[in-house]
Amino acid sequence: SSIAIEGADGKTYKTDEWMNTPPSILSAVSKRLHLQPDHPLAITRQLIESRFPGYAYHNALFPIVTTHQNFDSLGFPPDHPGRSRTDTYYINSKTVLRTHTSAHQADTFRANETPGYLISADVYRRDAVDRSHYPVFHQMEGAMTWDRDSVPAGSTLAQQIWADVAKIPAHPGLAAQDPNPTMHPDRNPLQPEHAADEVEAVAAHLKRSLEDVVVAIFTAARAATTTPSGDAPPDEPLQIRWVEAYFPFTSPSWELEVFWQGEWLEVLGSGVVRHSILAAAGVPTRIGWAFGLGLERIAMLLFSIPDIRLFWSEDQRFLSQFSASKPIARFAPFSKYPACFKDVSFWLPVGAGGNSAGGLVAGFHENDVMELVRDVAGDLAEDVRLVDEFTHPKTGRRSCCYRINYRSLERTLTNEETNELHERLRRTLVGRLGVELR
Ligand code: PHE
Repeated sequence: SSIAIEGADGKTYKTDEWMNTPPSILSAVSKRLHLQPDHPLAITRQLIESRFPGYAYHNALFPIVTTHQNFDSLGFPPDHPGRSRTDTYYINSKTVLRTHTSAHQADTFRANETPGYLISADVYRRDAVDRSHYPVFHQMEGAMTWDRDSVPAGSTLAQQIWADVAKIPAHPGLAAQDPNPTMHPDRNPLQPEHAADEVEAVAAHLKRSLEDVVVAIFTAARAATTTPSGDAPPDEPLQIRWVEAYFPFTSPSWELEVFWQGEWLEVLGSGVVRHSILAAAGVPTRIGWAFGLGLERIAMLLFSIPDIRLFWSEDQRFLSQFSASKPIARFAPFSKYPACFKDVSFWLPVGAGGNSAGGLVAGFHENDVMELVRDVAGDLAEDVRLVDEFTHPKTGRRSCCYRINYRSLERTLTNEETNELHERLRRTLVGRLGVELR
């Protein structure tokens, strides 16, 4: 059979036994929050774009891509866990909702835009239910490359890159920790096709460019006018750190973390683009960097937005607080409506043994419970957590207890309403996952 998707310009998609994308997720495809004027995600996107003048901005790439684009073109091995149906939304065995904007790297490198490009887009992942996770979120990808064939005579590629590094605004007051060497033979290797002096220069350009973005964001967040109900942000110096990382499509790779309200927050992944990707894209003489950041994370910091579900709100009490033409203002939460906690305990189907602590049991994945809650309760589910699990000593059967926090961002839920939702959730767990309620 096949499905039509709103926003797909009438195109239909064949589905097969890999299809695991519920209608609630498909309905997000046409929303494009990052393009809605005055939406906080659009304002955040524009603020970051303003730090990369002259780049090509791609903001309307369609989210349904091939597994080749999302995984193979980027060097994901065939058994990579990210390909699993428990983590990724499939339409059919060869077609997915992109899990990251990197899905467009190969095609965009092929277009060979200079100096670089930014891609902002909705991305889709099966994941936990809590205040900072939502199965649809937005990323911005950025990349910049240099061509070793167009280096002026008498100069080297590394010199040319360093000259570009010198053009990036400097932030001497920034406390940036970067304790590791740019490359490490085991942990963060240089690619065989690259020269170390070139990669040093590329890495410096990447890190200075992204530090400049982070400073711009946090300067705006600090300057944000404090609303009567909001607390002023602590006025401590901005602290950031570069951490070694691994991605199949970059080497060496780094994550950038920002110290914000008492904890280190991962804000982006980045690295030196794999030569094989540029070669396959028809630009084998280029070398450069790429990064990917989560726009919601940044917007939550920028505007002090406490819950990721708010980005999807159509309530004017939310939307009217943001304006692209006014200075950044801190979000004033509308009063918090009461939470309602309800537990559901069940036996897993026989045969679904193993250990679910890491989320995975043969035939049962925690993300299935998460998605089922989203399906039944929509945005009325704030948080879902496993509060208890045990294995029966005699039968070997495994039992789980999940606690659901039902709360609307917009009103007080009635008892009747939450009871009904929870009852529907219990029935759906039985019907779809084959569990036995306790
Ligand atoms: N795509 C990566 C992610 O979603 C981020 C990334 C982009 C890392 C580009 C390196 C280079 O986690």
